[in-house]
Amino acid sequence: MPRATIPCLIALTLALAPAAGAAQDQDAVPPPSADVRARAIVGMMTPEEKLGLVSTVTSREGQTAGGDRRFAAGRGPGVRRFGIPELHETDASLGVANANEQRPGDVAVALPSSLATAASFDPEIARAGGAMIGGEARAKGFNVILAGGANLTRDPWAGRDFEYLGEDPWLTGVMAGAHIAGVQSAGIISTVKHFAINAQETGRTIMSADIGEAALRESDLLAFEIAIERGHPGAVMCGYNRVNGDYACENDALLNGVLKGEWAYPGWVMSDWGAVHSAGKAANAGLDQQSGRELDEQPWFVGPLREALAKGEVPPARLDDMALRILRAMIDKGVVDHPVPDKPLPIDYDADAAVSQRAAEAGMVLLRNRDGLLPLAATATHILVVGGHADIGVLSGGGSSQVRPVAGVARTEHLPDSNPFNGFIKRIWGASPPLDAIRARAGAAARVDFLDGKDVAKAVEAARRADVVIIFAEHWRTEAMDLRDLALPGGQDRLIDAIAAANPATVVVLETGGPVTMPWRDDVGAIVEAWYPGERGGPAIARLLFGDFNPSGRLPMTFPASATQAPRPTPPGEPKDDGKLVGIPRFDVDYVEGADVGYRWYEKQAETPLFPFGYGLSYTKFAYYALRPVPGHPLSVQFTVANIGDVAGADVPQLYAAVRLNGGPPIRRLVGFRRVMLMPGERRAVTLAIDPRLLADYDVAAHGWRIAGGTVALSVGHHAGDTALKAALPLAPRLVPAAHAPAD
Ligand code: GLC
Repeated sequence: MPRATIPCLIALTLALAPAAGAAQDQDAVPPPSADVRARAIVGMMTPEEKLGLVSTVTSREGQTAGGDRRFAAGRGPGVRRFGIPELHETDASLGVANANEQRPGDVAVALPSSLATAASFDPEIARAGGAMIGGEARAKGFNVILAGGANLTRDPWAGRDFEYLGEDPWLTGVMAGAHIAGVQSAGIISTVKHFAINAQETGRTIMSADIGEAALRESDLLAFEIAIERGHPGAVMCGYNRVNGDYACENDALLNGVLKGEWAYPGWVMSDWGAVHSAGKAANAGLDQQSGRELDEQPWFVGPLREALAKGEVPPARLDDMALRILRAMIDKGVVDHPVPDKPLPIDYDADAAVSQRAAEAGMVLLRNRDGLLPLAATATHILVVGGHADIGVLSGGGSSQVRPVAGVARTEHLPDSNPFNGFIKRIWGASPPLDAIRARAGAAARVDFLDGKDVAKAVEAARRADVVIIFAEHWRTEAMDLRDLALPGGQDRLIDAIAAANPATVVVLETGGPVTMPWRDDVGAIVEAWYPGERGGPAIARLLFGDFNPSGRLPMTFPASATQAPRPTPPGEPKDDGKLVGIPRFDVDYVEGADVGYRWYEKQAETPLFPFGYGLSYTKFAYYALRPVPGHPLSVQFTVANIGDVAGADVPQLYAAVRLNGGPPIRRLVGFRRVMLMPGERRAVTLAIDPRLLADYDVAAHGWRIAGGTVALSVGHHAGDTALKAALPLAPRLVPAAHAPAD
């Protein structure tokens, strides 16, 4: 029998063990763990087989093999003789992306933007969305989805804010963890990204995010730590920029020190696409896989890594560990024992679109509702709809996360030819027109007119004659570019001002990728933040306007009154469309806010934002009572929520603690939340357990979370600026070790 065969059979048995094990009786030894199986296979692999695993390709040429049409973000070879399938990687957090139509005609259900999911403050919504896109990715033959965007939205103008889960580490970690767990419940691998602080697009490949370790631990790293604890992603994607001088994908302190060391992360670290700058340095610093290797200056993890190994600059054990981490995650998440199909399987797009619509509806935020203008009264029989392409569809964010919705693309706008991203980034509207949904919901007796808003005088004239005016205002964001300011572009503010002056019954529906300024806020009757509402955004918006559901979204990001309130009013680094600054190798951004991101910054600066973190209105009213400790559980509290209005609805009571960090003034931080659905008059007791890390400073020297003694002021509120209930929480001084603290 040829030399290699016997070990292969052993490894193959180990690799296939669960199938064999399934027939075992109850008393038999349990099947070997993913770790044991992966180690057995790595022990049999040749160096070239291991080397083959540690990079993927993104080009069509690189991906065209055997007639396979799964052109997407990345493809990596498997190890056929051990039954290890190829890696087929697709983007991203909002669904199976096909921004560039790499797969002509391939569509998928588009989730609403991640900010919308975050605004639901409901992990179940995040999990369901993750499970839906994971199911579609598997059915389309992808075993990795590059989801799990978990960077904090540090800047209100950042291009990718729509892809992230807001400014708070607890909210982000809990929601990202649920999303990732949902994706992986479909038996494929999710990433969490972009490790570890990746807050702006301008100069993203040459900027250095500079921040103290304690501040980083208490903010972005805490979000990743919680997301990884709760979601167990198979892979972590390191980001483009430098962190404190070292590129994130060759940052020993972050990858080996924190992620693989203190957190004992078992999966693999893949680079972002075009984020690798070395072979030996990156491999030794903890990078396990170069993604889209042809995008980098070199296919670093092919020839140069082979050389570095030959020269002893990278120990063979490191290559073993790289292969082990990839195989272990593949086995653990099920893609070895349950390979994804080579040919697409049927998908119930209707059921999946319902998941998207539920997320869109749960995430919509009612920001203003003067005199109960919403829900629209049955007497509103002459409705004028203006602007925002409401007659054709709903806006989506640009870049790698962009999904081509099942409903179709209603409109595509390209960037100027001068913009080097114009092949990769497009502005598209999904064919879910709010106007059609409003007409259907208003019924035949109503008259619903539409004007695109370009002729302001005409719109004002029509507004005077309408019972109610619904203005759709949009603000597009995209990967690779940041906003220059937060104002609605294209004269939309002027249009809103003019119409509101003509008719006080004016509703503004915002389709934005994050905060915008609203000089007309006090002049309009109602404001709804619909975000980028996804596959069925039109019907979701109409259902809110007519009261078919009660809005319960809460802002996951502060909306500042102006960009000057934010730590950085505009993106640092001269905005060059190419994402690179001509002529300079690097520029630094000093994150002066440290861990005081978002609402904590505005509190510290005594700034009053336009709308605070956690803010959102309802068609009913909620009250809170009796904040009290839970006997025997020193870090748990209980309080009661009541629906004191006459409409059923969901509320999101938020628990904040004023924690004194590093001897500074006590700054309030979110330490708990719960989305609660209540019938009119119903009351519900809510118990929240506080993760000790949220009450602590990160003590760099002690490698742990130090809780100072004394009492912490707790409050329950409707948003970050509200203290409806107050209580004091006595705290014993202690050090919580940096290893995983107990989840609640
Ligand atoms: C992009 C993004 C990343 C994405 C990857 C693959 O540039 O930063 O989020 O998953 O490339 O498309």
